Amino acid sequence: MVGCISSGAVWAMADYINSIFERYLHAKKIFKNKEVLRHSYTPKELPHRKEQIEELAHILVPVLRGETPSNVFVYGKTGTGKTVTIKFVTEELKRISDKYNVPVEVIYINCEIVDTQYRVLANIVNHFKNESGVEVPLVGWPTDEVYAKLKDVIDAEERFVIIVLDEIDKLIKKSGDDILYSLTRINTELKRAKVSIIGISNDLKFKEYLDARVLSSLSEEEVVFPPYDATQLKDILLQRAENAFNEGVLDDAVVPLCAALAAREHGDARRALDLLRVAGEIAEREGAGKVTERHVWLAQEKIEQDTMEEVIKTLPLHSKVLLYSIVLLDENGELPANTGDVYSVYTTLCEYIDLDSLTQRRVSDLINELDMLGIINAKVVSKGRYGRTKEIRLNVTPHKVKKIFGQDDQLRPLLTVNLSRQRRLI
Ligand SMILES: Nc1ncnc2c1ncn2[C@@H]1O[C@H](COP(=O)(O)OP(=O)(O)O)[C@@H](O)[C@H]1O
Ligand SMILES: [Mg+2]
Repeated sequence: MVGCISSGAVWAMADYINSIFERYLHAKKIFKNKEVLRHSYTPKELPHRKEQIEELAHILVPVLRGETPSNVFVYGKTGTGKTVTIKFVTEELKRISDKYNVPVEVIYINCEIVDTQYRVLANIVNHFKNESGVEVPLVGWPTDEVYAKLKDVIDAEERFVIIVLDEIDKLIKKSGDDILYSLTRINTELKRAKVSIIGISNDLKFKEYLDARVLSSLSEEEVVFPPYDATQLKDILLQRAENAFNEGVLDDAVVPLCAALAAREHGDARRALDLLRVAGEIAEREGAGKVTERHVWLAQEKIEQDTMEEVIKTLPLHSKVLLYSIVLLDENGELPANTGDVYSVYTTLCEYIDLDSLTQRRVSDLINELDMLGIINAKVVSKGRYGRTKEIRLNVTPHKVKKIFGQDDQLRPLLTVNLSRQRRLI
């Protein structure tokens, strides 16, 4: 009979679930306030950023004497505290300028989210919408008109407007530097207000994308955020951990290990905080009373897996099909394979989903890209007088790739391909 479960089994299940709940309820609470470990939380103190805070304060302080601050270009790798420091300094500036009745407006825009010139301009106009009564729609107006409106609303009063363009490299790479050209010159067209720009970039090479004139006006001043070393990361974590965890739940070795692992990843404070948070979550789920080094290692593995999943999800279509060819070869016990073997499966798969295949040369480049991303391993080996060839291996589990592609409408059909049958058909 369908759906008939013995009453004994039902009891066993209920006991099991009960034991999970009980264990959870009686486990010592790990977190006091997990929010403190989130990226969005702004701590009251920023250890090891005194120098950058002072530099920025010196650049912005003329505002209090009624002078326009220079434009600033801020750069450093991800997780070096650029966003949190700029927010901290501009909030302080706002507080002091309010106290002394100096009219200052700070507009913060994250260009990874607001990622077109039109939307950046519209955001600036809309910042003043309560005052001006003007609201630009998300699409539809000619850009020139938005820019004209922007000048009007900014210039409505005598004031200083500081525009922070965070992750500016993303915007410029996508849609060019016209917007910076206009914004860095806007003061010549304003009568009452004065504008300063703070541009923040994770990528130093991004300077190459800028017109020389734009670069020189944007980087009137430059502030560099160097990576943190393990000792500095330890201080940052200890300060956050104090409010995030209950007393006595962190083993002494936990914070130093998170700091050391994140220091290896170009001194990224975000990674360090993630490791600490995830280690705590794993300990909590286990019902453990303490977070130990073992939980940090498990957290490291989980974060790496999650990152890899994200990388695979965002690959271009052909790279995904290529990756699936290698997955199939793996399942057929045919790895390591060379470029030719992989190419032949790749073309078969392209045909299967009605996709025009790329040339072998182009696919060879894509193989190198997958190798650089760590998804596969492509080692060049010498075959004596037969020249050199690549030995291609898979670095992720076929199961993981299948799980990801199963959620992708265009790739899902590939999951039903049986390589041996498909080869016989051709
Ligand atoms: N000196 C610091 N003190 C405390 N927390 C910091 C410090 N530097 C970075 N953080 C934290 O690390 C994370 C990443 O910092 P963020 O400012 O976003 O880096 P970036 O913008 O350079 O990528 C944030 O959660 C931030 O609060
Ligand atoms: Mg940032």
